[in-house]
Amino acid sequence: MPVIRTLSKVAKQILLSTPGCGCQPLTVAVRNISFSPRQVTSDASFHSVSFSETDHPKVLITGGLGQLGVGLAKMLRKRFGKNNVILSDIRKPPSSVFHSGPFIYSDILDYKNLREIVVNNRITWLVHYSALLSAVGEANVALARSVNITGLHNILDIAAEHGLRLFVPSTIGAFGPTSPRNPTPDLCVQRPRTIYGVSKVHAELMGEYYHHRYGLDFRCLRYPGIISADSMPGGGTTDYAVQIFHDAIKSSKFQCNLRPDTRLPMMYIDDCLRATLEVMEAPVDTLTMRTYNINAMSFSPEELAQELQKQMPELEVTYDIDHVRQAIADSWPMNFDDSNARRDWGWKHDYDLPELVQTMLNFFDAESRMAGAN
Ligand SMILES: NC(=O)c1ccc[n+]([C@@H]2O[C@H](COP(=O)([O-])OP(=O)(O)OC[C@H]3O[C@@H](n4cnc5c(N)ncnc54)[C@H](O)[C@@H]3O)[C@@H](O)[C@H]2O)c1
Repeated sequence: MPVIRTLSKVAKQILLSTPGCGCQPLTVAVRNISFSPRQVTSDASFHSVSFSETDHPKVLITGGLGQLGVGLAKMLRKRFGKNNVILSDIRKPPSSVFHSGPFIYSDILDYKNLREIVVNNRITWLVHYSALLSAVGEANVALARSVNITGLHNILDIAAEHGLRLFVPSTIGAFGPTSPRNPTPDLCVQRPRTIYGVSKVHAELMGEYYHHRYGLDFRCLRYPGIISADSMPGGGTTDYAVQIFHDAIKSSKFQCNLRPDTRLPMMYIDDCLRATLEVMEAPVDTLTMRTYNINAMSFSPEELAQELQKQMPELEVTYDIDHVRQAIADSWPMNFDDSNARRDWGWKHDYDLPELVQTMLNFFDAESRMAGAN
């Protein structure tokens, strides 16, 4: 193995000759100092991005066809221009999405394909949304481990090698039964009991490690459960809070898979997407941390149903508990302390429970009026 030994020697020399090694950012691309066959050219260090490029980002969104990606692309395209935001996924996009702006196939497990996309499109910001969520992950641990952990490693290396600003969302699911639950601060014990949670703690720690070790501009928000009207959730424990609106409109009946008193932090999608843009645009010197909790409201199924019944008194809610989801929910925060985000970069939510319910109902109302007119 003489080649490996030579590479090993070179890597050691690079590491030893780097000033302040271990606490200063290294100025070499990550996979350049590894023995991976997936090597990049020597000019691909993270210092290659100029300021003008970061002022006008060229954005790639992975896992963009899920609950959050299409809305994020729409918002970012308004701000940075349609062609500066590329959506990607492994699924076939509906034609409305395909025709609304650039879409590209990208499997985050395919490192070379990812690198090609970043290079060919001169990407400067990467929003990494691909993941298997909590309930789906528990049903398929091997795939969740692969997508959420191996996939993240590819993303981190690509971002470090090409000087990208990287956003990776984390979740309330990154906490566990031994974390303080009401409220849950940014820094506390994190011992989640799902593969989803474990993979997200891993993402937080790896992103922060790459930030300190290689200077990667890693930014991470722990999202609460996200509620949206025009996109469906992807198999998480907070899905009921979206499904209740669809079922209420369709049949005035809803069967909830969590106990009526299960309190969880939640947020309307517009707040979530705006927070994502705000933290991505926050000046570096305002960020005292790289992973922040963000929150808007906290409610139980019973409280959500009561708020809905103020406008739809005919709504009937019954409960048929899904024990896997209930166990997950019982280990998650009931309330999120997001005071650091509010202090550092001015995070402020717009939607509380009454505004959320009103906005969701307005959306479905407008939709049914449009359907009636057609
Ligand atoms: N939606 C929420 O309530 C919520 C809450 C907290 C955190 N988050 C995080 O936000 C991100 C986006 O969430 P979402 O609700 O849109 O998720 P989602 O499950 O709806 O979508 C995830 C997308 O990832 C894609 N994907 C799966 N495997 C892939 C692969 N190998 N390569 C590329 N893409 C792949 C899927 O096709 C899917 O479109 C996730 O990382 C999630 O953990 C979401």
